[in-house]
Amino acid sequence: MGARRDPRRRSHPWARPGFCLRPLLFLGLCCWETRGVATPDQVKPMITMEQLLWVSGSVIGEVNTFRVPLIAATPQGTLLAFSEARKHSAYDSGAKFIALRRSLDKGATWTPTSFIVDDGSLQDGLNLGAVVVDSEKDMVFLVYTLCAHYNKCPTASTMIIRSRDDGVTWSIPRNLSEDIGTTMFAPGPGYGIQKRYEPKKGRLIVCGHGTLLQDGVSCLLSDDHGLNWRYGRQPLHGIPYGKVKLPSDFNPDECQPYELPDGSMVINARNQNFYHCSCRIVIRSYDACDTLPLENVTFDNTLVDPAVAAGALVKSGLVFFSNPAHEKRRVNMTLRWSFTNGSSWWKEPLQIWSGASGYSSMTSLDGAAPEDAHSLFIIYEKGRFQSTESVSVVKISINGEL
Ligand SMILES: *[C@@H]1O[C@H](CO)[C@@H](O)[C@H](O)[C@H]1NC(C)=O
Ligand SMILES: *[C@@H]1O[C@H](CO)[C@@H](O)[C@H](O)[C@H]1NC(C)=O
Ligand SMILES: *[C@@H]1O[C@H](CO)[C@@H](O)[C@H](O)[C@H]1NC(C)=O
Ligand SMILES: *[C@@H]1O[C@H](CO)[C@@H](O)[C@H](O)[C@H]1NC(C)=O
Repeated sequence: MGARRDPRRRSHPWARPGFCLRPLLFLGLCCWETRGVATPDQVKPMITMEQLLWVSGSVIGEVNTFRVPLIAATPQGTLLAFSEARKHSAYDSGAKFIALRRSLDKGATWTPTSFIVDDGSLQDGLNLGAVVVDSEKDMVFLVYTLCAHYNKCPTASTMIIRSRDDGVTWSIPRNLSEDIGTTMFAPGPGYGIQKRYEPKKGRLIVCGHGTLLQDGVSCLLSDDHGLNWRYGRQPLHGIPYGKVKLPSDFNPDECQPYELPDGSMVINARNQNFYHCSCRIVIRSYDACDTLPLENVTFDNTLVDPAVAAGALVKSGLVFFSNPAHEKRRVNMTLRWSFTNGSSWWKEPLQIWSGASGYSSMTSLDGAAPEDAHSLFIIYEKGRFQSTESVSVVKISINGEL
């Protein structure tokens, strides 16, 4: 059974003032600003490693199904891989753990699975989620939802845990709904951003979506390193707002934000009801996700998508995008890259896996090692017949060198 939570407890574990800064950790970030944009002849992505991190079917910790993988890199260069460990079935609701594995050697080996959150026997247990790394303060946050489907529970809660030791230990869950309200908010799935550029450099941004009925994309923002959170002023609503949607209605759903070098934000979102196309919705915000204006919503016809959670990442001035590239089915995990801030995509993508492929998320290391500048990691749902069979991580060499 999970840790008991006292709903009356209002102070949260990291409300204490005073952080211990470790300035050495910032050395690894020295080169980011000066790294140029890679040119097409330098970019020949190649898979250099692949490992299954979790296999469904009650073989690991008697967990029925592992789904919804997330991956992040800490300022120390540690990789953190998370997933939902669905205890008894493959269903989205039901009781779960959050599973974590860490890699201290750039993805070569991984610690055994630890279960860092246990929701006990909830009918509508936890759902991931977004991992956010605060590089300025060397902290990692993980945001998740309880009761996202209102399945035999009256109130949805947005929860957050925090690690200050590189993902080894985690705080007890803090109930963010006490501050932001109980409107259902499903973060990601993917990672949250810490703004690198103005406006609002240093801001933490976690974007997510609401219920399928009252859907739309909104973002949680923190300008004080995760102490206080609030929603941006203007979300992007689905249409018709608050009503049951029909096929082809506008229903932006699971999403991944990233920051472009001009400091603007892009949110790449699942097009749940295939409005306009079987492709991705792209939202641009010029005020660090305070507003997600309808006038700056576009559709990316190149990013063909079966309505799924996809990965997006800016690395060395390139935008990368991962998804099962198919109009209807979750197959064909594909990596694309853009030399033009995401306004066009290189003509020959890299196929990661031709078979069953589902949710994916990406990260990269920002250390001073040359290898860090040209590698990225994709974690994704992979199977022979169904994408829920396993969670796999691949390491990509961007320049095609080992
Ligand atoms: C979180 O806080 C909200 C608002 O106070 C409350 O309704 C909800 O029950 C709390 N959730 C948990 C899991 O304690
Ligand atoms: C929409 O995008 C344009 C640039 O294409 C920008 O100038 C404008 O300010 C944006 N609108 C809003 C409301 O942010
Ligand atoms: C996989 O994606 C690539 C790139 O979009 C596409 O050319 C190919 O037809 C796709 N394969 C399948 C089986 O959908
Ligand atoms: C991408 O955005 C940056 C920052 O605004 C700009 O300097 C660069 O020219 C853009 N690249 C392309 C190809 O548009």
